[in-house]
Amino acid sequence: MADRVVLASSGGLETSVGIGWLRDATGKDVVALAVDVGQGDDLDVVRQRALDCGAVESLVVDAKDEFADEYVVPALRANALHQKRYPLVSALSRPLIAKHLALTAKQLGADSVAHGCTGVGNDQVRFAAAVAAIAPDLRTLAPVRDPGLHRDRAIASAQERGLPVPHVESSHHSVDQNLWGRSVQSASLEDPWSAPAEALYASTHDPAVPQQADEVTITFDRGVPVALDGQRFSVLRLVQELDAVAGKHGVGRIDVVEDRLTGTKSREVYEAPAAIALITAHEELESLTLERDVLRYKRGVEAEWAGLVYDGLWFGGLKRGLDAFLEHTQQHVSGDVRLRLQGGRATVTGRRSEQSLYDFDLATSEAGDEPDRSPARGFTELWSLPGRITARRDAAN
Ligand code: ARG
Repeated sequence: MADRVVLASSGGLETSVGIGWLRDATGKDVVALAVDVGQGDDLDVVRQRALDCGAVESLVVDAKDEFADEYVVPALRANALHQKRYPLVSALSRPLIAKHLALTAKQLGADSVAHGCTGVGNDQVRFAAAVAAIAPDLRTLAPVRDPGLHRDRAIASAQERGLPVPHVESSHHSVDQNLWGRSVQSASLEDPWSAPAEALYASTHDPAVPQQADEVTITFDRGVPVALDGQRFSVLRLVQELDAVAGKHGVGRIDVVEDRLTGTKSREVYEAPAAIALITAHEELESLTLERDVLRYKRGVEAEWAGLVYDGLWFGGLKRGLDAFLEHTQQHVSGDVRLRLQGGRATVTGRRSEQSLYDFDLATSEAGDEPDRSPARGFTELWSLPGRITARRDAAN
């Protein structure tokens, strides 16, 4: 059925209005697909809205565990923070949504898929690049970007057609949410000097309001978080549980100016309590269990990995190669990390591992317990040798 197109549907204004535009522009029947990546929306409502807006079929896929196990876990292995700050919340879900779009299109015999991204940001590129890498024969259409469906026009169009779209302000305000966090763009943030209004935040409490600290212990097994305070959970459940407690302390509020892959800068606000708490804990466990040179090299790989994922290259060769390296480094990253959550911060207060490389006897400076220091003298001499040779050469010139 090449006369069908599968549209990624979020239930938002643009994708809802986009259904009619897509049908009119292509003459194809529109199948809506909502992928549940933990956005917390009522997907029955989203499903019905797509039908009411003219979709011939409206599907919902529960991809929450897949997102947790196959997208969040690799991001955590990579301690992934784009430009050192942004835990890739939206960037992480796009390849998974694209994958389900492509699979559904193949199942239905459709020749194209579509998304509701505008022509401004990164997501249009991420969808297209992921679909191309999974199903090279599919076309990716952008019914909001290509006819230039601005928000105000979309609102007018919805009113004209009597479409049941959600109420939105005419001001530019866009939220994207999933298990790993929440991304907020808003007209009120466009001036990088204006402080984010408290009302923009939804999953974190104001960290300035004093509260008793909470302490949590996170258990990792080969880099994967498996238990919280000794209770075993799936990754999905663990992230949800931790999100609630870390969010209560305002952990993971991020206010950044970032470089879009399209070359412009953009100011955004994110909330990612569990992501920030888990990355903090995981990095700490790596400090205890990884060899110095692995750790140093890995930190560079992490930045590269985050950049590739941000740039929509999830299915690309370099990203997959780096995944193999990152996975290999996790063999011994097992143990517990204790975090204190308070005042917007997740602070490590303890770490332990049966795989630890920390040697108490070698680390101690207690008198009487001293290890044999005699190799240190020769090592220090040799270590200083290149500097001495260079200094002599420089003094002679
Ligand atoms: N700038 C972020 C990214 O490119 C978030 C994009 C989606 N944000 C939004 N508020 N809809 O990954």
